[in-house]
Amino acid sequence: MAFDLVIIGSGPGGYVCAIRAAQLGMAVAVVEKEPTLGGTCLNVGCIPSKALLHASELFTQAGHDFGRMGIKIGTPQLDLAAMMKFKDDGVDGNVKGVGFLFKKNRIEGHRGSARIAAPGRVEVAQPDGKTSTLACKHIVIATGSDVARLPGIAIDEQRIVSSTGALALAKVPKRLLVVGAGVIGLELGSVWRRLGSAVTVVEFLDRILPGMDLEVAQQFQRILQKQGLTFRLGAKVTAIDTSGAALAATVEPAAGGGAQTIEADVALIAIGRVAYTEGLGLDAVGVERDGRGRIVTDGHFRTNVAGIHAIGDVIAGPMLAHKAEDEGVAVAEMLAGQAGHVNYEVIPNVVYTSPEVASVGKSEDDLARDGVACVVGKFPFTANGRAKVNLQTDGFVKILADARTDRVLGVHILGPDAGNMIAEAAIAMEFGASAEDIARTCHAHPTLSEAVKEAALAVAKRAIHM
Ligand code: FAD
Ligand code: NAI
Repeated sequence: MAFDLVIIGSGPGGYVCAIRAAQLGMAVAVVEKEPTLGGTCLNVGCIPSKALLHASELFTQAGHDFGRMGIKIGTPQLDLAAMMKFKDDGVDGNVKGVGFLFKKNRIEGHRGSARIAAPGRVEVAQPDGKTSTLACKHIVIATGSDVARLPGIAIDEQRIVSSTGALALAKVPKRLLVVGAGVIGLELGSVWRRLGSAVTVVEFLDRILPGMDLEVAQQFQRILQKQGLTFRLGAKVTAIDTSGAALAATVEPAAGGGAQTIEADVALIAIGRVAYTEGLGLDAVGVERDGRGRIVTDGHFRTNVAGIHAIGDVIAGPMLAHKAEDEGVAVAEMLAGQAGHVNYEVIPNVVYTSPEVASVGKSEDDLARDGVACVVGKFPFTANGRAKVNLQTDGFVKILADARTDRVLGVHILGPDAGNMIAEAAIAMEFGASAEDIARTCHAHPTLSEAVKEAALAVAKRAIHM
C-alpha cells in the first residue's frame, strides 16, 4: 500500500503530526527506531523529568513545610527505587497512550530505523534484520535531537551522565557536578539537590538560563542558591579524570586563566542538544542542513527536496515539545491544502523547578536591542494573598507592554505554578491584548493568577495590593 504520509520519528512532533494528518483523511505510517513510542519527550525528557521534579518537590515539602501546616510525619525517608518506579510507570502510561491514539486514528506504526532511499520511498531496517520499504506521497522527518557532547569527555551514563542517565541514577550521588546552567542542568540539578546531593553547577556564561529575562534569571539564581545549589559562572569544564574513586573535573575560567579541580561522584553534561539525522541518508538524497546540522526548511516546513518536510528539534527554533507539536499540526494541515500556521512570537518557555520560571514573548533585552520602548509592570508574589497563605512568596510577574500602544509584548513569571499561569499570557498575546485588557479581566480570588492582573495594572502604575 502507498501511504499519503510517512513520518520518521514518533516524538511529540511526529506522533501529533500523524494524528492530525489521519484526522484530515490521510493514510499515515510512522517509523520509530526505539521500542517505545513518544520520542525523547515521553521516554527520556519532559515526562520522566517532571515526574522526578514532582516527587522530589513533595519530598522536600514533607521534610520542610508540612510541620508548619500542622502535619506531623517525622523525617521523610527516601525510597529511590520506588521513586524511579513511580517515574517509569508514568512514562509507561504515556507511551502506551500514544499507541492507543495510533490505533484509534488507524495510523500504522513501523518499528525500525528509517532511511530515505528517495523522495516517496522510505526504507525501514527492522529489529529482526529484515528491510521493508514504504512508498508514500510525502515524508516528514521528525527525528528530534540528541545530547551535545564535550570533546574528550565520554558519557558512560553511570558516572558521567547525560540527562538520560541523570533520570535513572541507582543511588543519590553525594556530590553532583552539573555542566551547563540551562534548563536540564537546573531541573535535574534541583531534583538531586532535593534528594540530598551537594550540587555544583559550572556555567560558561556569566549568568544562568541564557535566553530568559536577565532580572528573572538573577533572582532565580539567588533562590536556587538558598536551596543549596552552588554556581561557578564564567567557567568551563575542560576534562574529567575518571581514574580515581571520585571524578576529578578540570574547571577553567571561560576567559582563560588558571585551572581548578572539582571532585564529584557523578557529572551531568547538560550543555545543549543537537539535531539528530544519523542514518537518514540525507546526503544521498541531497537534503540541505545548516552549520549546526539542522535540516533547513522554508515557511512551509519544506526541505530543498520536493516531497520531504521536517519539523521539531531537527529544524531551527526552540527545542520544545509544544513547538514540535504545533509544527506537526501545521505541516499536516499544509499537506492537506489548509493554511497551517505556527506563531513563533508566542511560544511559552517553562523551567519546572521550584519556583517555576515561565516566559512568553520578548524580554527587556530583546526589546532594547530592537529599539522598542516598553513599559514594565511588576508584581511580587509576597503581595499575593494566595501565595502568602501557601508560603510560596518567592518571585514576581513582569509584563512588558508597548510604550505607545500598551500591547503586551512579553510576560515573565518567576513563581509558584508559573508554567500554568503563562498560558493566560500566551492567549492574551495571541489575541493582541493590551495590558489594560488583562487588567480589566476579572480574575478569581484568591488565586496566584491575580498577580498577573496586578502586574498588568502596574503597567499603568495602578496596582491595588502594592
Ligand atoms: P524527539 O522527541 O526527539 O523524537 C524523535 C524520535 O525520532 C525519537 O523517538 C527517535 O528514536 C526517532 N528517530 C530518530 N531517527 C530515526 C530514524 N532514522 N528512524 C526511526 N526513528 C528515528 N520540552 C518541553 O517542551 N518541556 C519539557 O519539560 C521538556 N523537558 C525535557 C527534559 C529533558 C531531560 C530533555 C532531554 C528534553 C526536554 N524537552 C522538553 C525537550 C523535548 O523533549 C523535545 O523538544 C521534543 O521531544 C522534540 O520532539 P521531536 O518530535 O522533534 O523529537
Ligand atoms: P541549554 O541550551 O538550555 O543550556 C545549556 C547551557 O550550557 C547554557 O547555559 C550554555 O551556556 C552552557 N554551556 C555550553 N557549553 C558549556 C561548557 N563547555 N561549559 C559550561 N557550560 C556550558 O541546554 P540543556 O539544558 O542541555 O537543554 C537542552 C534543550 O532541551 C533545551 O534547549 C530545551 O529546549 C530542552 N529542554 C526543555 C525543558 C523545558 O522546557 N522545561 C527541560 C529540559 C530540556
